[in-house]
Amino acid sequence: MLIKRSPNGIDLPYSSEITPREVFEARRDFIRKMAVGSIAGTALFEMANRAAFAQNAGAQKLAANLNSAYALVEKKTAYKDATTYNNFYEFGTDKADPAVTAHTLKPRPWSVSIEGEVKKPMTLDLDSLMKLAPLEERIYRLRCVEGWSMVIPWTGYSLSNLIKKVEPTGNAKYIEFVTLEDKKQMPGLRSPVLEWPYVEGLRMDEANHPLALLTFGMYGEVLPNQNGAPVRMVLPWKYGFKSAKSIVKIRFVKDQPRTAWNIAAPSEYGFYSNVNPDVDHPRWSQATERRIGEDGLFARKRKTLMFNGYSEVASLYSGMDLKKFF
Ligand code: MTE
Repeated sequence: MLIKRSPNGIDLPYSSEITPREVFEARRDFIRKMAVGSIAGTALFEMANRAAFAQNAGAQKLAANLNSAYALVEKKTAYKDATTYNNFYEFGTDKADPAVTAHTLKPRPWSVSIEGEVKKPMTLDLDSLMKLAPLEERIYRLRCVEGWSMVIPWTGYSLSNLIKKVEPTGNAKYIEFVTLEDKKQMPGLRSPVLEWPYVEGLRMDEANHPLALLTFGMYGEVLPNQNGAPVRMVLPWKYGFKSAKSIVKIRFVKDQPRTAWNIAAPSEYGFYSNVNPDVDHPRWSQATERRIGEDGLFARKRKTLMFNGYSEVASLYSGMDLKKFF
């Protein structure tokens, strides 16, 4: 997903396909520990599937009413695909890694501190945070910057409920989401793939848009660890990497936050990162996408929609040159 500068100053492209040595070695070490003998790629993927199901066997149900205003009428991505094909670099850089390794994450007890430019800073434990507003089920498209997409039923409430509660001061122009950084729970932190902790951010008006969902569950159950338990953001009009997982801090700030992928490769990953078929990533087109699970895992190409089809956010960006503010 990013360009890594090598020690001799040459830009090295890498992604899940081109793996940096430290990541490769960490993964090799992990595989060595996980099994005696060698495990082929397919076997590892099978293990990922099993681990995902094992983790969610007996997963806690999360009751919520479907909000029909946000219930996309499209075929949902299979639970198995959504929980075994993940980006969560704290648990490894391969899509199959998080489902295998994220069992070490402890989603309870958990608390989130809300701080910065607010009149009422607070630290809420998970139960208090979940009770802050009625939980809703919403079915959203998720479009990753890498060119794939899914349709997922999420459970949560609009972040605006929380924003109202803490009463931002006039200085609060942006919100920063800081995610967990704990080497004991997250084996991927040993690799300097990104600057840790993973941080994301939004402008205040974006954060207040009703689509911005503070999310605790998916498919009617609590979030599996690999999908960002126990609390994450979901921002369906933006590329998936804006949706920070396993949030521990929400900070209201004056200046635009530095964000994980923007720090890693500013020319490739902008602060806004709205889904936009007219603004290509420097290394690939964003005009089309492959829907995971459709006609085989990677088969068909669909047209990508402006703002991922969520045209109601357009007014947030009126007058802005979205090629410049990509
Ligand atoms: N949040 C954290 N903390 N770490 C990550 O590596 N990856 C992002 C985002 N949130 C990431 C993260 C990316 S690139 C994507 S596409 C989505 O999570 C993937 O969410 P999913 O695995 O639930 O599909």
